Amino acid sequence: MPVLRNIGFLATCRAQGPQGEVHPIPRAALAWEGDTIAWVGPEAELPARYASLPAEDAGGRLVIPGLVDCHTHLAFGGWRAAEFEQRIRGATYLEIAEQGGGIKSTMRHTRAADEAELVARASRWLEQSRQLGITTVECKSGYGLEADTELRLLRVYRRLAETQPTRIVATFLGAHVVPPEFTDRREAYVRLLVDELIPAIGRDRLAECCDVFVERSAFTIAEAREILLAGTGAGLSPKLHADQLTDGGGAALAAEVGAVSADHLEHASAEGIAAMASKGVVAVSLPFATLYLNQPPMPARRFLDAGVAVAVATDFNPGSAPSFHLPFAMTLACTLQRMTPGEVLTGATIVAARAVGREDSVGSLEAGKKADFAVIDATDVTEWLYFLRANACVRTVIGGRTVWST
Ligand code: NIG
Ligand code: FE
Repeated sequence: MPVLRNIGFLATCRAQGPQGEVHPIPRAALAWEGDTIAWVGPEAELPARYASLPAEDAGGRLVIPGLVDCHTHLAFGGWRAAEFEQRIRGATYLEIAEQGGGIKSTMRHTRAADEAELVARASRWLEQSRQLGITTVECKSGYGLEADTELRLLRVYRRLAETQPTRIVATFLGAHVVPPEFTDRREAYVRLLVDELIPAIGRDRLAECCDVFVERSAFTIAEAREILLAGTGAGLSPKLHADQLTDGGGAALAAEVGAVSADHLEHASAEGIAAMASKGVVAVSLPFATLYLNQPPMPARRFLDAGVAVAVATDFNPGSAPSFHLPFAMTLACTLQRMTPGEVLTGATIVAARAVGREDSVGSLEAGKKADFAVIDATDVTEWLYFLRANACVRTVIGGRTVWST
């Protein structure tokens, strides 16, 4: 089916203009050849060469670019439901981490999991996420925290990229926290990352981005700078987990190293925001982490007003954000972060694509880009994000191929 007609509202989400502008085309049609969009515009103007082809009918529904989840920790062993309850009873995320829970608990389960098991779990979640309209997923390592397991996680992502229709962007997050073996010699762990793992990962093209968690319980600004520059040297685009629990200067570091994104940012300073604006760093907001950790929301309006593009992602992980339901995170970004539905849709498509360095191929519906899109049973973006329900997404297409339909 290379032509889709009778689209009630098509949000192209081109990059130009303010973030809230989705560049809609009412009563639209979309044509593609192979895996690439060939034409998009008002149905009345569909060129004759497409008008004569057999077409699918979108039933007057909304069509959006395939959603890009630009921040997940997709592969991990075990779960941490008990911590969810501990936090409800009053324990904080940092207290749980200091008692050996949190990331270190998932680390133990991940080290014990074999590659096939990790691939099987993640494959299931990717399949379910395609039913929500998600077509590209950024996936971080970071629960191995030793050479073997970190490389195993990146091989899991390579395997998923080969076997799953979802587009995968792998990110090396060896600098998630300092593993227990290195507590008293953290410098040696930084050396392992900088001198051995990052160069090897760059050489084998096992990841496209390199991320560091900058926080009191994780890595310092100086350590992060060294790790991210090593990543750049190995061809990995820098990203940061910045200013999530406290203002640690992560936003300014993101600007300094030319990061593609800085993520979380609930506590970013005014200087950090200005620095990100001057360097065009994307701010990735993660409303599930806010929700599950009962934190103040990321001040999205301050970023948008300063001229920083704000992406919306799930942060899917077993601790602070145990959900890959990106449309629900988008609704939360509307209500908690006061982003408009239009800002949120571009934040989960074209802006998110920029945050993973894929804006040339995905994130908007334009001729020449990949034919990745979702048909949503709603009349427009606002109605979709307002009325949350199962199966709002009735069809998902990746590279011209239908990968889900109700
Ligand atoms: O993005 N902030 C650090 N990393 C994750 C949490 C990971 C975990 O708790 O397992 C995050 O929220
Ligand atoms: Fe994260």
